[in-house]
Amino acid sequence: WAEDGSAAWLRYAPVEAAKYEGVPSRIVVLGNSVVERAAGAELAKGLSAMLARPFTWSVQPFQFGAASTNAILLGSYRSLGDHTMDEASSSMPGTDRYSIRFSRQRGSHRVLIAGSSPQAELYGAFHLLEEIGADRVIPEHETQVASAAIRWTDEWDNLDGTIERGYAGPSFFFKDGHVLQDLTRASDYARLLSSVGINGCNVNNVNADLDLLSSEHLREYARIADAFRPWGVKLALSVDLTAPQIVGGLPSFDPLDPTVVAWWKQKVDEIYTLIPDFGGFTVKADSEGRLGPSKYGRSPADAANVLARALAPHGGVVLYRGFVYNNHLDWRDPKADRARAGVDNFVRFDGQFDSNVVIQIKEGPIDFQAREPVSPLFAALRQTNMAIELQTSQEYTGQQRHMIWLPSMWKWVLDTDLQADNRHTPVKQIVEGRSFPRPDGKSRLGGFISVTNAGAEANWLHHPMAMANLYGFGKLAWNPDEPLSSIIDTWTRLTWGNDPRVDQVIDALQLHSWQVYEGYTGPNGMGTLTNILGYHFGPGIESAERNGWGQWFRGEKDGIGMDRTAAGTGFAQQYPPSLAAKYDSIESCPENLLLFFHHVPYDHRLRSGKTLVQSIYDTHYLSARAAGEYVPQWMTLKGLVDDDRYQLVLRLFTFQAGHAIVWRDAIDDWFYWRSQIADVHGRVGNH
Ligand code: GCU
Repeated sequence: WAEDGSAAWLRYAPVEAAKYEGVPSRIVVLGNSVVERAAGAELAKGLSAMLARPFTWSVQPFQFGAASTNAILLGSYRSLGDHTMDEASSSMPGTDRYSIRFSRQRGSHRVLIAGSSPQAELYGAFHLLEEIGADRVIPEHETQVASAAIRWTDEWDNLDGTIERGYAGPSFFFKDGHVLQDLTRASDYARLLSSVGINGCNVNNVNADLDLLSSEHLREYARIADAFRPWGVKLALSVDLTAPQIVGGLPSFDPLDPTVVAWWKQKVDEIYTLIPDFGGFTVKADSEGRLGPSKYGRSPADAANVLARALAPHGGVVLYRGFVYNNHLDWRDPKADRARAGVDNFVRFDGQFDSNVVIQIKEGPIDFQAREPVSPLFAALRQTNMAIELQTSQEYTGQQRHMIWLPSMWKWVLDTDLQADNRHTPVKQIVEGRSFPRPDGKSRLGGFISVTNAGAEANWLHHPMAMANLYGFGKLAWNPDEPLSSIIDTWTRLTWGNDPRVDQVIDALQLHSWQVYEGYTGPNGMGTLTNILGYHFGPGIESAERNGWGQWFRGEKDGIGMDRTAAGTGFAQQYPPSLAAKYDSIESCPENLLLFFHHVPYDHRLRSGKTLVQSIYDTHYLSARAAGEYVPQWMTLKGLVDDDRYQLVLRLFTFQAGHAIVWRDAIDDWFYWRSQIADVHGRVGNH
């Protein structure tokens, strides 16, 4: 098998076959949909490769008796005669769930994989493959339920083939204004996504090409949907709200103009004629130069609902992005604060969005920094569907040239308890739609989005270790309660093999990598401190200051950090009261968010007893050293992993080790220059 990384975690490397002797070689698929057929073929392919004996699959109706023993049976709960778990009995209809049962009776074996939908059956098949690939015992009975309906990736691909904030080569969907003829990679990608439970993929940039919805283009997107379909991945598109004008030739794009309403309806009908399982639209409007409903004095709800009503008869959804802010803020104004924008722009429309509109909210109030508090908008919207937007593409976090395992951060975000109404309301439950149910008591529509930006490079994301982020996203989106240690361990085993020496080293490196990256860049909630006017890569400390973008950290002579307390911008007050109080006080504010909420003198004593500035110096030295240790750690694995990927990771770790020193010195020197406080260990300013 290829070791260029293209197989990712679906390598199906041989495992200890004797352990799985009882797994029958005959696979019987009860349904005949393309998805179920893909599941049958995948099982045969994976099991044959891992267990080094031939597996066959066929589509057959269920039969009692001998025909159903000594077989792996894959079908719906109903077709397998298991009514206990079928869809009708579920409290959340439409939520994917599957069960695997392994039974041995008088020398015959049977594996049942039952699902609530063809996709769920496919997820069950992938799960069985994963358990065997990771050398685990097949449990006698296991049931898995997806947390939420929306588990999508967003790809920021442009029709010309470039990818905004993509770090692994050009697009595998588009080139020169058209969809590629050969969509093998698109289909392989959908297979990877579905293997971790992802059920939708928006293939184009949120900064959408203006002519994206022309009829000529739509016919081309239909081919991408065809490539995705066997894997149960729905195609979605980002649209620009000016489309009725630009594509349709109408005089305006005012969402309340009846001709505009009719245009969207006709356009959506046209899409569904070509793509009957189309997922829906993502909308970026009134943000970073994109036009939007504000041009006509209309609200986000006005705009979103027009699209939603066109999509509703077909089952489509609108992901309306909460990332709306003014990028021409006045930095001289101590009350100006980009972080406030989400709540300020959306809360007054709570309750006005149709039931198939979901507000897609970035995890933090700024923009994918190495650490931000979670967006207060999650607790402020009570009658609106929400999804969380996470970024697998490492825009501000090392661009897949540094290893950083983002699920550690995402888990911290998802577990954050916003304490709305003084109740336990962790972010994960809010986006699952469970915290603020609909008036009829049912869960709201919601979910998880990963901005992934995979590219044409063989291994999808450039750094072999970065694939653990995409894998981890899928796993957390399926079940945000799965422990990080189990997620990373399964990924490592599937990607690098089951040798415990290999797994121990890789798991440990990944699990600490967020803390390490944060430590040599911008700790204490400062922001990542990358060069924000360039490529968002490498230190560019003051690039965030004194401009309209609002990513300020206000590093002054007297101290550093944004005052977002009641006395400052009042951002802390956007949280429910108990959290607002915690963040507002310098005493109770968590130190990893201190400079996000407070303007703090450099000699302020932290809980460790160190001054802020000394802690910054020390954290940078410690973290850069930790990053440097990735290299010798990795070298212990020479000969235990294939040489191609070994060499690639070695090169990347060597780069990271050096770049971490560049970061360390840039930040520490800047702090020394600004604070004029010497490092007690005499390191800073002396090289
Ligand atoms: C960031 C990113 C942009 C992107 C934007 C968005 O600002 O740098 O490239 O368009 O987020 O999420 O819309």
